[in-house]
Amino acid sequence: MTVTIVGSQLGDEGKGALVDIWGGDSDVVVRYQGGDNAGHTVVHDGTEYKLSLVPSGAVRGKIGVLGNGCVVNPETLFDELDTLRDQGLDPDVRIARRAHVILPYHRVIDGIEEEAKSDDDLAAGTTGRGIGPTYEDKAGRRGIRIGDLLDPDVLRERLEYAVPQKRTLAEEAYGLDVATSDHADAFDIDHLFETYRAYGERLAAESMTVNAGEFLTDKLDAGDELLFEGAQGTSIDIDHGIYPYVTSSNPTAGGAAVGSGVAPTVVGGGEVVGIVKAYLSRVGTGPLPTELDGTDSEEELADFIREKGGEFGTVTGRPRRIGWLDMPMLRHAARANGFTGIAVNHIDVLAGLDEINVGHAYDLDGEELLTMPATTERWSRCDPVLRSFEPWEEVDWSAVAAEGYDAIPDNAQAYLDYISAEVDAPIYAIGVGPGRDETVVLDNPFEQ
Ligand code: IMP
Ligand code: MG
Repeated sequence: MTVTIVGSQLGDEGKGALVDIWGGDSDVVVRYQGGDNAGHTVVHDGTEYKLSLVPSGAVRGKIGVLGNGCVVNPETLFDELDTLRDQGLDPDVRIARRAHVILPYHRVIDGIEEEAKSDDDLAAGTTGRGIGPTYEDKAGRRGIRIGDLLDPDVLRERLEYAVPQKRTLAEEAYGLDVATSDHADAFDIDHLFETYRAYGERLAAESMTVNAGEFLTDKLDAGDELLFEGAQGTSIDIDHGIYPYVTSSNPTAGGAAVGSGVAPTVVGGGEVVGIVKAYLSRVGTGPLPTELDGTDSEEELADFIREKGGEFGTVTGRPRRIGWLDMPMLRHAARANGFTGIAVNHIDVLAGLDEINVGHAYDLDGEELLTMPATTERWSRCDPVLRSFEPWEEVDWSAVAAEGYDAIPDNAQAYLDYISAEVDAPIYAIGVGPGRDETVVLDNPFEQ
């Protein structure tokens, strides 16, 4: 069977902890979208590993697959693999031949385009990893795929077509003087050809490339369990998120099928678990109706939650914006993904506050909405209709993790019950602290 783990908000819901826990019951951990814009920390046998591309399961001896829906920066890939090997691990990672390659010019263009957009408030606050420009080239049918790196003639031909266009874009549209800039190599066909051909040779020498759909379906037929590890979250999905302040892929559950080649009937016949942070955090730009930024006391509260929850970007180190839980956003996520269960993280971070609110609904020009409007302009005009909850006290959360659900303070249980009822899905796990074992696990989706 398959279990798909999806972010139900804006990314950084703490998916990694659940992927770690449930990934232990899987044989293969698969990423189906995104690239090295993701980021999470895995602790294994007392050692901490920071990964942004390699699926975390690879640290634990599982096969890690980067599906065709991913965009792969080979430099990051090999850096992460080399680091893991230096630490004595032997990761088994396979890459879809249909996955697209992030090239140096994608990163350069990501940076200069964000800069240009910032004058008009359109910048998404990207991670600068070249994600958007790579997906653009994929859709524009001028991308370079992992399989192309294995065939020097094809690679050369593709570069000769794409690079002059990219150079013209950088120079004419954005005014970058490529030759005298620090980025001359990023637009140099010969340099790119040699570098990426060498990556192709290494991928081939280590037998890392696969036809992902075939590889994964064979695994399923042989009785293996697959865990799909979504990166980012539903509200930054390019189709279902707050466009244009989104990433350029589909973190939602449908992406697991399209981005891996495993049939939608198979993914849909498995479990889809939404990961929920007990409040909101956001690294990018754009509106955020429940944001805590209106008054000094709200900002103080946001500072407190940010510090306590460690709300700083894993990839970029940026401080995250903070808000109350946004229920219309969660209802939207539950519908778009079809959650069979949820996990709620970080309830410990809210402990000890004087007040706890959630945005239960939105008020848009006097009309009450229970789910997100489809345009970001309408969303930006939504005021949250707050519902307050009795706060819960600070407790010894390691003890709670050891004792289980009944040890969770009653008021926190009421908060969890409310969330579960509103999204109409049972709670499989509750995160009560940053450590991997600080999770109260109620159910295992692989045993549903
Ligand atoms: P990009 O994915 O780098 O193109 O960035 C597009 C938007 O998605 C920006 O608002 C980023 O802050 C956001 N984003 C990308 N990856 C993550 C992530 O892993 N967690 C949270 N936000 C992300
Ligand atoms: Mg993250």
